[in-house]
Amino acid sequence: MTLSREGKAFAPSNIALIKYWGKRDRALNLPITSSLSVTLGQLGTCTTLRERPLEFKGLCQYEGDHLYLGDTCVDPQTEFHRKATRFLSLSRPTPETRYELRTASNIPIAAGLASSASGFAALTLALNDLYQWNLSIPDLSRLARQGSGSACRSLEQGFVEWHAGSRADGMDSYGTRLEVTWPEFSIGIIVLSDQPKPISSRLAMERTRETSTLYQAWPTQVANDLARIRPALLAKDIETVGQVAEHNALSMHATLLSADPAILYSTPKTVEIYHTLWAFRQETGIPVYLTQDAGPNVKLITLAAYEARIESIFPTVHWVHPFEACSATNQQILTPILNKCP
Ligand code: DP6
Repeated sequence: MTLSREGKAFAPSNIALIKYWGKRDRALNLPITSSLSVTLGQLGTCTTLRERPLEFKGLCQYEGDHLYLGDTCVDPQTEFHRKATRFLSLSRPTPETRYELRTASNIPIAAGLASSASGFAALTLALNDLYQWNLSIPDLSRLARQGSGSACRSLEQGFVEWHAGSRADGMDSYGTRLEVTWPEFSIGIIVLSDQPKPISSRLAMERTRETSTLYQAWPTQVANDLARIRPALLAKDIETVGQVAEHNALSMHATLLSADPAILYSTPKTVEIYHTLWAFRQETGIPVYLTQDAGPNVKLITLAAYEARIESIFPTVHWVHPFEACSATNQQILTPILNKCP
């Protein structure tokens, strides 16, 4: 018994500089506001996908789609399995089609780094490869968005803006790349916890939108932040980019704190990092800023030239250079990664 031909793809993870927080349509993952992120170059997810004849069992003994994380069969009761199966059902050739999906990530395992973004972007690209759809980037982005909103910003390298759009069918809600190449731009990842999130971002978004009075101000703030950060990215103005991104992230967390019941992803260690970073910036004038997503880990925004000085206060920081591989062609970047795919 053999499996069908395979589709194989890599997609990078991404970190939002201007956050996506709140949906206007939960089924289609349509956001209330636009958002803007930077992809993490070679850090991301590899996925291989095949159609599985029903008789073929492999390691996973259950019915339905078989999901492997590395060599481990994923429990079909998990949220991860449910989300992937639901997503695959958007494009199953027949209701009986079953898949074998193997996924592996080279993101530091504990970092909680938007793995759903790279995961659904890679799965979208693997489907495109398996069925030879030859879809355009906007079409791929619109499909990936339905798996996880932030995944629609992981189809291209560099700075990507997800346009919220206004149509009910979501056809105008997808990511496009900004024409900026900034080799010195650097993201520092400080991993503080590998514990699962106390509440998923999907549920946290819903509760914030429904109960936080501060949330009313959020769409206006995002519009202002986007208007400031776009020209700053084009001008490679790290001070403005960092200030706007840090303010945007902290404002998002303020809306979470004012939800009822309150949602707090920060731990005492997270807050300690805020204070250390702010004191360091004040003393040295070094442009280093923070951002934080739906977890306690902190990401730094700076330039490569300052990394050594910053390591004196944060020795465990892991640096990522989103534009490192951009001088190579896409194929040169992807081939070594794809060869390591499961
Ligand atoms: C805080 O894209 O994971 O990282 O659409 O429900 O899957 P779903 O949410 P997801 O949310 C990401 C939230 C964030 C901000 C961001 O990446 O913009």
